[in-house]
Amino acid sequence: MNEILINDTTSFYQKTFNSPADKVVLSPGRINIIGEHIDYNDGYVLPAAIDKIICFAFKRNNSKVAKIHAIDLDEKFEIDVTEKQELSDCVWTNYLRGVLHQLQLKGYEIEGFNCVFSSNIPTGSGLSSSAALECGFLFGINELFQLGIKPIDIALMGQSAEHWVGINCGIMDQFSSVMGVENKVVKIDCKTLDYTYHEANFVDYSLILFDSNVKHSLFTSEYNTRRIECGEGLEIIKANYPEITSFRDCKEQHVTSLQAKMTDNVYRRSLYVVKEIQRVIQACEALDKGDILTLGGLMFDTHDGLSKDYEVSCAELDYLVELAKAEENVIGSRLMGGGFGGCTITLVKKGSEEAVKTKFAKLYADKFGIDLKIHDVKVSNGTSLYKN
Ligand code: GLA
Repeated sequence: MNEILINDTTSFYQKTFNSPADKVVLSPGRINIIGEHIDYNDGYVLPAAIDKIICFAFKRNNSKVAKIHAIDLDEKFEIDVTEKQELSDCVWTNYLRGVLHQLQLKGYEIEGFNCVFSSNIPTGSGLSSSAALECGFLFGINELFQLGIKPIDIALMGQSAEHWVGINCGIMDQFSSVMGVENKVVKIDCKTLDYTYHEANFVDYSLILFDSNVKHSLFTSEYNTRRIECGEGLEIIKANYPEITSFRDCKEQHVTSLQAKMTDNVYRRSLYVVKEIQRVIQACEALDKGDILTLGGLMFDTHDGLSKDYEVSCAELDYLVELAKAEENVIGSRLMGGGFGGCTITLVKKGSEEAVKTKFAKLYADKFGIDLKIHDVKVSNGTSLYKN
């Protein structure tokens, strides 16, 4: 499937610019097994890059202008790479402008180039198509101009580009898109950026993404609000327990003992964060042992926390998890990514995938009148140069 995407992208480049592209870059979306909304709270996360990608084709053009085509949108824009970058009303271009802005801030000098790209990462599904866009674009520029930017810095600059666009995200999406390895999940310590790879082996279970096919407009504002609420919670904890410097050091009792000093929202957000940090540690141990039943149970617990305490779920996602809980052949499910729509990530017993898919799709359509989208994904490599 990706071969078709790559062919289409490189042929489009050839047709548009009358010469072949010089560099072809593949940049993946990501899943996250567990550890949601804790990358910006000094927690651990357990994501992986997937086989849904954006393919970019690039070549230098001996000018000061970048000419960029979004094939799927049938839109293009041109920009002087030496000029100061500003946000535009055309949203997709902002992720790329944000990358150019980061390069300027860090003092990298580049020249003009042509770029076309096309994607098979579903957008608005919580699979981080924006991280793939930022990181793949920067990766390509790094290759074209031999800037020597290290992979981890590509991820960090991608994250800063996303902040520039307006979402104060953590590092998980960009890190996993760049650093992913085939058949491995990566446990990232979001405080130190240390990381370890673990086998993405779910034994008798398949990972399936049930896509609610809804995207509630709350995402950006609520996401940024959660960060502020967690920051407030941590300040109160630090003021009362000077030995604590981050949520990482907290036990649940630290938070519960301060309930009276916190607003209800700040209290519940903080409690969720402390519990989720513990769950990721347990989940990773369970995965290493092949104890997928325990992993699944932790995923259900995460969803409960995300829905009731962190309040980033919605009726559609809650229903998908409810269906999962009622299904014998499903042992874990939770909303994945920022929330307010997008997908659940679900562990389904091998052999029963098709039956479960059919059943969920019917029940979901009956309840909401919305088609359930379903994505099968493979754990794959991070952003890379395509060599044919
Ligand atoms: C979005 C953000 C990530 C992370 C998740 C929630 O995907 O970009 O940094 O915070 O939400 O876990």
